[in-house]
Amino acid sequence: MKDIARQGMSIKVESMDLLNSQIKMEAHASATYLAMASWCDQNGFFTSAKFFRKQSEEEREHMMKIFDFLIDAGGSPFSPEVTGINHDYASIVDVFESTLDHEIAVTKSIHNIVMKAREVGDIATERFLDWFVMEQVEEENTIRDILDMISVTGTEGVGLQVIDDHVGNWMD
Ligand code: FEO
Repeated sequence: MKDIARQGMSIKVESMDLLNSQIKMEAHASATYLAMASWCDQNGFFTSAKFFRKQSEEEREHMMKIFDFLIDAGGSPFSPEVTGINHDYASIVDVFESTLDHEIAVTKSIHNIVMKAREVGDIATERFLDWFVMEQVEEENTIRDILDMISVTGTEGVGLQVIDDHVGNWMD
């Protein structure tokens, strides 16, 4: 990007570069959750499949929120290349544990951008990310609650089907 164009931005260059990386991370999450929806559907976890389809849509919305913010701030959002999507999971427990790992990584990344924005005095980016910080608290909490439910229900006998039915409790 030309230096003159960067000077016309109301966000700092450091923030823009990190937000473009975050766009890619949200796109990767969206694609990953779609792969999980496919795995759940193929393995008879139909409610979980709907849950992950919806998560996938929400991650794309997160991506577009950042994309639009960069446009509004005079920056240059990139359309991300998404590769390396895992389609293989050992079990439904593995799916939800991987989801928690993924969300924790996203939280760390968002916090890192907040800290950087603060460091370079980019107040607009810091304020913009407030919503993401709270969204991550909610998302991590949802997945932890589902993992607690799985551990209480157990995976023996009809447990797996009960788990799938209960996942519906976390869908709006
Ligand atoms: Fe948009 Fe769940 O991270």
